[in-house]
Amino acid sequence: MMIVSSLDELRAARRLLDGTVGLVPTMGYLHEGHLSLVRLAREECDRVVVSIFVNPTQFGANEDLSKYPRDLERDLKLIDPLGVDLVWNPTPEIMYPPGYQTWVEVKTLTHPLEGAMRPEHFKGVTTVVAKLFNAIQPHKAYFGQKDAQQAAVIRRMVRDLNFPIEMVVCPTVREADGLAMSSRNKYLEGDDRRAATVLFRALSAAKSAHEGGERDAEKLRATMKGVLAAEPKATPQYVSCADYDTLEELEMVQGKSLLSMAVLIGRTRLIDNFVLE
Ligand code: PAJ
Repeated sequence: MMIVSSLDELRAARRLLDGTVGLVPTMGYLHEGHLSLVRLAREECDRVVVSIFVNPTQFGANEDLSKYPRDLERDLKLIDPLGVDLVWNPTPEIMYPPGYQTWVEVKTLTHPLEGAMRPEHFKGVTTVVAKLFNAIQPHKAYFGQKDAQQAAVIRRMVRDLNFPIEMVVCPTVREADGLAMSSRNKYLEGDDRRAATVLFRALSAAKSAHEGGERDAEKLRATMKGVLAAEPKATPQYVSCADYDTLEELEMVQGKSLLSMAVLIGRTRLIDNFVLE
């Protein structure tokens, strides 16, 4: 496994990779969710590249950039046995040298949900992912359904900017009690860890209602809000039942739809979602 930091080293290492190349972009502190993307890339591509970069431009001023968990050694130990060919771990100065002033921005799709709570977030995500795509030139790129809006926004960018890259979106990996794996779960202490299962329980209740024939989106949102309200440690930021592609709130559920939410458990912000087919 080659591990590089500078852009020159990355380009030299990339030239040595023959065949199809799969990229798994991450911010490190890897868990089973990330590893599931790496495993699928390993199955589907001749070569696998993992990027590990805590991207400062996607964190808001009041967010957890400086606290964001980092452990490169541990990350490398986790991915080495999976057959990763190349790891790129650039510094913020390599990604954003002095004088940096170029941004990639997807418009309408970034306005609701996460975008409404975190105004500059997706501009940082699309900019860094475009830079990763340009530097690594993968044939396929792997993302998690856990970050449903991120996947939708990047899919839009790939189409709009003609990146010759196939996007693969992988299912959300969960703990045994349903909590979606996330690097931020590390912040959940004591009773917060138990309370955090409320997202999965709320989504499951709405999914059951949908399976039972409920098509009124407002009722599905109310079902989720009801479960969240019963958990004193949970403060919902948004609860959504939206069209899967446009992310616009629905009145009636017809085609493929997305149930999603962001909830504060104590001071930890968690997101989760289910897809309704
Ligand atoms: P990060 O949060 O490290 O996540 C990297 C990838 O892992 C994302 O595509 C995310 O959706 C996926 N992932 C996270 N938890 C998952 C889970 N429980 N099951 C399945 N997949 C999961 O998302 C980012 O980093 C950044 O925004 C990035 C795309 C790297 C750009 O900086």
